[in-house]
Amino acid sequence: QHRPTGQPTTNTATHDSAFLRACRREEVPHTPVWFMRQAGRSLPEYLKVREGVPMLESCTRPELITEITMQPVRRHKVDAAVYFSDIVVPLRAIGIDLDIKPGVGPVIADPVRTRADLDRLRPLTPDDVPYVTEAVGLLTAELGATPLIGFAGAPFTLASYLIEGGPSRTYERTKAMMYGEPDLWSDLVDRLAAITGAFLKVQIEAGASAVQLFDSWAGALAPDDYRRYVMPASSKVFAEAAPYGVPRIHFGVGTGELLGLMGEAGADVVGVDWRVPLDEAARRVGPGKALQGNLDPAVLFAPREAVEAKAAAALEAASGLEGHVFNLGHGVMPATDPDALTRLVEFVHERTAR
Ligand code: CP3
Repeated sequence: QHRPTGQPTTNTATHDSAFLRACRREEVPHTPVWFMRQAGRSLPEYLKVREGVPMLESCTRPELITEITMQPVRRHKVDAAVYFSDIVVPLRAIGIDLDIKPGVGPVIADPVRTRADLDRLRPLTPDDVPYVTEAVGLLTAELGATPLIGFAGAPFTLASYLIEGGPSRTYERTKAMMYGEPDLWSDLVDRLAAITGAFLKVQIEAGASAVQLFDSWAGALAPDDYRRYVMPASSKVFAEAAPYGVPRIHFGVGTGELLGLMGEAGADVVGVDWRVPLDEAARRVGPGKALQGNLDPAVLFAPREAVEAKAAAALEAASGLEGHVFNLGHGVMPATDPDALTRLVEFVHERTAR
């Protein structure tokens, strides 16, 4: 299949998929389901192909990316694939010295803390990530009608890793820069917005039919601070993706107080965690947007009946929504029984079949 660059390439069957229809708030044959972190350590077949291959290296091998991305689609029959990568991949691609430490997360060798450090955040071009273009091409060929979701980390969440040097619970250095050196902060998040926007464009131009912006840790912020220090940069990212017309999803954890603003930033679909029921989330987000969520991933450790009762409650809360994509409220935990996920997909499909 020939894919001219500069044009979205979603075919008709993909365009009519339940997932993309729900994102566009159209009628659906059933509520579509996918899971954040659906590829990964919960799957034995993932552990097998990852043996001896470091995480970041696996993200640069098109065949391996394709195999890992396909694994949960084959096994769970989810309604969308999510491109296998990590939010720090574009930073690594422009030369930032970082690693992903098992059980820890991204670790940055030289954190970004001064104006001079900003020079390391040069713009990203498609030539920096040829493996992404290649892998997305392989994937869209193999996926057929199943849509591929591309993704990237949002400026705030990426900035928090770069400034803290690794994962944080308190974001003290990040907030110190945000409040104490607002000009440096805004230059930093603007550079990250450009990198993230370019990275999403690479995925869309190669054939991704939706994108998700992960601002996983934005829930650490009060609404006024989010609006002032973060939303302008995230809006720039969404504006970059806007001309392609693919649905744009925006997700964070603990963002109940930010849901309206995260929609306003430019999302078509707002991700919701389990702390806010979906009907209440819809009131906070307002009309004209679909919602994604929101089963607590820890619920999957409970017996089947309990999982189904919680999933049914989420579907009930979603019954009046304009568009709903079923998902967890955060990523699949590594110790999750994969069969529990497969059963959950089946349950949602059967329960919502129209
Ligand atoms: O198939 C998919 O679902 C895509 C998988 C995916 C990964 N990273 C692969 C990964 C996605 C969507 C991400 C995004 C990501 N990475 C986010 C946003 C999503 C979220 O959970 O909020 C964040 C915050 C990161 C940063 C990061 N990378 C963390 C916190 C970790 C976990 C560290 C650990 O070992 O517990 C990673 C590593 C990572 N990214 C793994 C995977 C499969 C585990 C590493 C491995 O398998 O060896």
